[in-house]
Amino acid sequence: MARLVNDNLEIPTIPDVASTALRQMNDPEVSGAQLAKTISQDQGLTAKVLKVANSALYALPREVKNLQQAAMVLGFTTLKSIVISASCRSIYKRFGMLERNLWSHSVCCAMGSHLLAQQLDLKHRDEAFVAGLMHDVGKVVMNNGARDQYKEVMRISKEEGVSSIEAEQRIFGFTHADVGSVLVQRWELTPALEQAVFLHHDPELAESVAGEFMEIVYTTTISDRVCHHLGLCLPNSEPDTGLEEDMVTSALGLDGASLATFAEEVKDMYERDNSSFA
Ligand SMILES: [Fe+2]
Ligand SMILES: [Fe+2]
Repeated sequence: MARLVNDNLEIPTIPDVASTALRQMNDPEVSGAQLAKTISQDQGLTAKVLKVANSALYALPREVKNLQQAAMVLGFTTLKSIVISASCRSIYKRFGMLERNLWSHSVCCAMGSHLLAQQLDLKHRDEAFVAGLMHDVGKVVMNNGARDQYKEVMRISKEEGVSSIEAEQRIFGFTHADVGSVLVQRWELTPALEQAVFLHHDPELAESVAGEFMEIVYTTTISDRVCHHLGLCLPNSEPDTGLEEDMVTSALGLDGASLATFAEEVKDMYERDNSSFA
């Protein structure tokens, strides 16, 4: 599958500065000052990191004014998520209506995954935000590299009322979940992220395929579903499956009522904070 994707599409590489910063953050010897020096080489990345660090998502008591402070207050794990998020935004080649909708949907899903993982105190909660943000990154790559074909995907999806996955499979022979997981591998991100992106439309396979990463797949799937229910999605790209209890919600101990409450919380959070990710 990876070969098929690579033969047909150009998978963007992670920006150099972000890649160096992520590598540095894996080194326990690296200081906040060294990291700040690396990130500051990219002005756009610096601005985005500071904007997100100061968003309501992290609810810091005081405004963070520079990168070194951000590294100290947020810690490397959170900072990593912010650097990856900013890199994801940078792969959008254009930013028309379709891309804007896709980005809004991704931000909503990221906020929802983060909130859910926090509320349930899940193991991979630090990666949940990035998983939400990246779950549909394959759509961006497909639309960047094969715009006409992707328009056809959306036409089929709208006119026949089928999911994007089904339409993509018909047109490309692979799906945005396949493309997204290839990108996550290329960027050398974590297996938890790879599984979340790869299986967000096939959560029933999570137990056997994703093993210990099963919960992050479920979190991403539920948050994606909630964002569609809230109307934050590409127009007609996926059907609204409602907020009823199913295998995935019960696996996380949620029912219809708690899911409805969660959807309200995601809506409030998105309305309050989405401008930090613009
Ligand atoms: Fe998707
Ligand atoms: Fe989605």
